[in-house]
Amino acid sequence: MEPRGHFDHDIVVVGGCGHVGLPLGLAFADCGLGVQLYDTDAKTVDLVNAGSMPFVEAGAPDVLRRVLAAGRLRATTDAATIARSEHVVVVVGTPVDRYLSPDVEAVARVITPLTDHLVDGHLIVLRSTVYPGVTDRVARLIAKLGLDIDVSFCPERIAEGHALAELRTLPQIISGTTRRAIQRADALFRRLTPETVELEPEEAELAKLFTNSWRYLKFAVANQLYMIANDNGLDYERIRHAVTFHYPRAADLPGAGLTAGPCLLKDTMQITAFAENRFTLGHAAVMVNEGIPLYVLGKLEQRFDVTALTVGILGMAFKAESDDARSSLSYKMKRVLTGRAARVLCTDPYVCGDPDIVPFDTVVEESDLLIIAAPHREYASLRTTKPVVDITNLLGNGVMV
Ligand SMILES: NC(=O)c1ccc[n+]([C@@H]2O[C@H](COP(=O)([O-])OP(=O)(O)OC[C@H]3O[C@@H](n4cnc5c(N)ncnc54)[C@H](O)[C@@H]3O)[C@@H](O)[C@H]2O)c1
Repeated sequence: MEPRGHFDHDIVVVGGCGHVGLPLGLAFADCGLGVQLYDTDAKTVDLVNAGSMPFVEAGAPDVLRRVLAAGRLRATTDAATIARSEHVVVVVGTPVDRYLSPDVEAVARVITPLTDHLVDGHLIVLRSTVYPGVTDRVARLIAKLGLDIDVSFCPERIAEGHALAELRTLPQIISGTTRRAIQRADALFRRLTPETVELEPEEAELAKLFTNSWRYLKFAVANQLYMIANDNGLDYERIRHAVTFHYPRAADLPGAGLTAGPCLLKDTMQITAFAENRFTLGHAAVMVNEGIPLYVLGKLEQRFDVTALTVGILGMAFKAESDDARSSLSYKMKRVLTGRAARVLCTDPYVCGDPDIVPFDTVVEESDLLIIAAPHREYASLRTTKPVVDITNLLGNGVMV
């Protein structure tokens, strides 16, 4: 694929140094396309151009070095690069607000100041997870410019940390507001993967939200079953093993844990808003998953005088082997404990920039009790005589404490 006509680059990724934008840009560059990463975060842009990954992503450091050396990828804070790139992939954050309501203007707010850089021949690909109807809204905004521009929505479905492998294996959902937009988006994503599935934009917007809420609901089922087993002194993992062992109909029953991160809760809440608060299963899942830190505290208070204890939290990231602490329930755990325990200590081998994080050995030495919050594999070799709360069963100890 050569950039068409007046374009110098195949792709510009708006939000290109983020958790989704950067791996996507790397994947496209690694299959031969010329990629520009446009991002407003100058520090991260410099880091990427210097060959350093700003976050943990399997296999990414090698690919970054390779595509930089080949001259196929460059990060920039200069929006002028958009006019020189044929495909404009927009993958900025779309968080819910503090009342957990979706922000339907989030994507348009990013695109509006960039309209001076939009030109005939562009294909705009929305890649962020968006509220249903946002693609059509953006298409109406673009139509007002009177330019010959196609608009498509192709949601990202990777799991953070596994993006580069998954971008080459997961089928891509393709939608667009015109037939030409769909065909162009399909041709672009077929550079990454042979399988695509076509939907209408609103179907595709819901398909992405359903994907994440399905996962969130499954974790809620696991967490509730865990609490039922644990309340009765039974080992959830032993039961789960029996339930799933060579039994395909239940094979995807997950383990219990702190279900968190930047996507699952907020996308469940986007469906809740879309369904006018009638997504009762979604609401129930939020209550269960967000309730786990309080459940743990309640159990501890039944067995210990928590006010006299130093409690150590192992793992502040939202999941194992990740450095991403966004929306991590480890911080909710810390907050509820801070009000009750004598002292709370935190550690994490990956998370950077939190001044409260102290070395692992300090936490293990100075704590009376430990909680494995993010089950990083480093903690599997933990040897201690102190009580350990291990919901994820990393240590294989059975019931909670
Ligand atoms: N994180 C995931 O695992 C994941 C998976 C699938 C989908 N998503 C969706 O992808 C989207 C992006 O999520 P993320 O985790 O990559 O977010 P992120 O915060 O890691 O990345 C967003 C990037 O956009 C940049 N940015 C912000 N405003 C900008 C602007 N006006 N112009 C240019 N750049 C700008 C930021 O500096 C940042 O680098 C969200 O809609 C999210 O729901 C995320």
